[in-house]
Amino acid sequence: MIILKSPREIERMKVSCGMAAEILSLLSRLVEPGVTTSDLESLAVAETGKRKAKAAFKGYNNYPSSLCCSLNEQVVHGMPTKVPLKSGDIISLDFGILFDDFYGDAAITIPVGDVSIAGRELVRVTEESLQLGIAQALPGARLGDISHAIQSHVENSGFSVVRDFVGHGIGKKLHEDPQIPNYGRPGSGVRLKPGMVLAIEPMINQKSFDVKVLEDGWTVVTCDGGLSAHFEHTVAITHSGPEILTRIGNA
Ligand code: MF3
Ligand code: CO
Repeated sequence: MIILKSPREIERMKVSCGMAAEILSLLSRLVEPGVTTSDLESLAVAETGKRKAKAAFKGYNNYPSSLCCSLNEQVVHGMPTKVPLKSGDIISLDFGILFDDFYGDAAITIPVGDVSIAGRELVRVTEESLQLGIAQALPGARLGDISHAIQSHVENSGFSVVRDFVGHGIGKKLHEDPQIPNYGRPGSGVRLKPGMVLAIEPMINQKSFDVKVLEDGWTVVTCDGGLSAHFEHTVAITHSGPEILTRIGNA
C-alpha cells in the first residue's frame, strides 16, 4: 500500500531529508586520500547528534553502522573500515536520518584524487540517470517512466543497471511501497500521484549487472569486480512536479 503524505507532512520530511543532505555534503568535503571511512562514520554520528536526530541505518536489520560506505566494486551496504582511501578510488556514501517521525535517505558517489576516465564517466552517468529519473516523477506519469529514463541513459552510455536492489517509498518507515526498479518499460507500473514520496536510487555497474553479497552478510559487490556507483535522492511528487527533499538548505 502506498502511503500518501499531506503537504504539511512533506514540509516535515524536508527537515529530515535536508539533514541527510547536509551531513552528506559535510562528509564529501572530508573525502581525500588518507581519510578512512571510519573517520567519515564518526563525523556522521557527531553531526546527527548535534541535530538531535537519529541515524536511520544503524540497527536496521542489525546493520552495524550509521553510514554505508561502498568502495569501488562494492555496490551498496559496505561498512566503514580503518583502511585509508587512496587516489583512484570511488566511494559511495549512503546516509539516512530519522527526525520528527520521518525518514530522509540520500547517497552520493565521490571520486577520490585522480580517478580513471571510466570511473569518472560511471559516476557522472549514474548521477545524470538519477536526475533523468526524477524528471519523470510527475503526477499522472507511471512508475515505469522513472525506471525507463534511468535504464535507457545508463545502457546508452554502455553501463548496466543493478537488478537485485531497488529504490523505495519512504515516510514514517525507511522502506515503504512502492519498490522502484531502475529498469522498466515506459507507461508501466503504478500511476504517480501528488503526495507520493520516493527514494530513487540507481545503482549502476561499469560491466555486468550481476552482484553478490559477501560473507559479512551485508556488503554487495559486483561479481566481475567492475566498478559500481550509486546516487539517491528522496523526492516528493507535487501538483507542480517533482520536489527533491534531500537538498541542502531544507533542514
Ligand atoms: N539507502 C539504502 C536503502 O534505502 C540503505 C539501507 S542500509 C540498511 O535501502 F542498513 F539500512 F539496510
Ligand atoms: Co534508500
